[in-house]
Amino acid sequence: MTEHFGEGNGVKTRLEVDPSMSGKEHYRLEVNPSGLHLTGASEEALFRGMQTLDQILWGDVAATARGEISPVVIDDAPAFPRRALMLDPARHFIPVKDVKRFIDIMARYKFNVLQLHLTDDEGWRVEIAGHPELTAGSDQYYSESDIREIIGYAADRYIEIVPETDIPGHTRALLSAHPELGCHIADSAALAAVPGAGVMACAANDSVYSLYDDIIGCLASMFPSPYIHLGGDEAAIERNWALCGDCRRMMSERGYTEAASLMNDFFGRMLSSVRSRGKKAILWCELDNIYMPAEKYLMDYPSDVTLVTWRNGLTPKCMELTAANGNPLIMAPGEHAYLDYPQMKGDLPEHNNWGMPVTTLQRSYSIDMPANGNVEGVMGTLWGEAIADVDRAFYMAYPRAMALAEAGWTLPERRSWDSFRSRLPGALSKLMQLGVSFRVPFEVFGD
Ligand code: ACM
Ligand code: ZN
Repeated sequence: MTEHFGEGNGVKTRLEVDPSMSGKEHYRLEVNPSGLHLTGASEEALFRGMQTLDQILWGDVAATARGEISPVVIDDAPAFPRRALMLDPARHFIPVKDVKRFIDIMARYKFNVLQLHLTDDEGWRVEIAGHPELTAGSDQYYSESDIREIIGYAADRYIEIVPETDIPGHTRALLSAHPELGCHIADSAALAAVPGAGVMACAANDSVYSLYDDIIGCLASMFPSPYIHLGGDEAAIERNWALCGDCRRMMSERGYTEAASLMNDFFGRMLSSVRSRGKKAILWCELDNIYMPAEKYLMDYPSDVTLVTWRNGLTPKCMELTAANGNPLIMAPGEHAYLDYPQMKGDLPEHNNWGMPVTTLQRSYSIDMPANGNVEGVMGTLWGEAIADVDRAFYMAYPRAMALAEAGWTLPERRSWDSFRSRLPGALSKLMQLGVSFRVPFEVFGD
């Protein structure tokens, strides 16, 4: 089926969807003296192929300026189905127009998922129908129509928006609207006064579950993604559930000796809410220790939960456990994929740096992406504590996000740092032309 046929300067350009091609993002680009022919398994595949064509034109910019393009045949499909970035409008709100700009640039590198970390201690950034108290007193949140606008804009670029609401920790904003949903502990006011100190929703309060059933239902109907991310990270269990009379009663009813066991009950109910809406849950992978030695999962993650590995040093263990337990895995190891970390020593974010380790471009590129197992893809995170606006997000993301995009798209045996490095100048000149803030990785051009 011919979708489009054009002629200019005698060169034929043909875009064609060929549903007999396998894999929905599979495309084939052929340029020869008689013309340019882009075939794709779907319109999405053609869109991905167009990005490659643009990169070729910018990579050989002198030929492009002469109106020429070298003959080439590229038959291409992604190694991994999910290639994601994450923005954190909870810490510093990101207006819709800036999210759209961010999506524009993601699309150029064939990212197909943007996760939005919508709720945290510092803010609740999404309108929830029937619960205006969650966003009351602020104009820094996405209304339902904002969300529709972001989703539609992303969908036009074949990018899925995954919503994240982080529970049971990271809930100070929720608990300031609903103080009755926190644990009953002596120093709850002191704990609540410090962002990131780790107040938690009470595991023993039925109203927590009924409110979240509404929230999950609302997110499920707003976001077409099959996934809802429920966080599950950095829960200060010993400072909350372990000290709360109601949680302790629940522990003894169930015969638990550790408060962490309540995570099974807590997420048991939350995951039912997700499943009842026909959705799948994603959680940050937590183990029984935050450093090695760690032996097992913090809770009994059901095998239908997709986990994200993230803590420095724990990815080999998360890979081993998810493979053994049948959980799909997304790779966001801090050492390679935390794009809020500085790219060089001394290149620190101006805002609120808590002592983040350095993650160079080459280190991002060297992320290990085992194919043919349970790894679904890669995610670069831009945690927002030190990212005050979208220009800072761009500066932190690029060019490292290009390295992660390549790790998600290209089979491990085909990746080459030298090849990547040689393609950087063309890619960076395009970002410059687009007015995108990025960090010049001068250290990689030195030898
Ligand atoms: C995380 O970085 N707290 C998932
Ligand atoms: Zn409690």
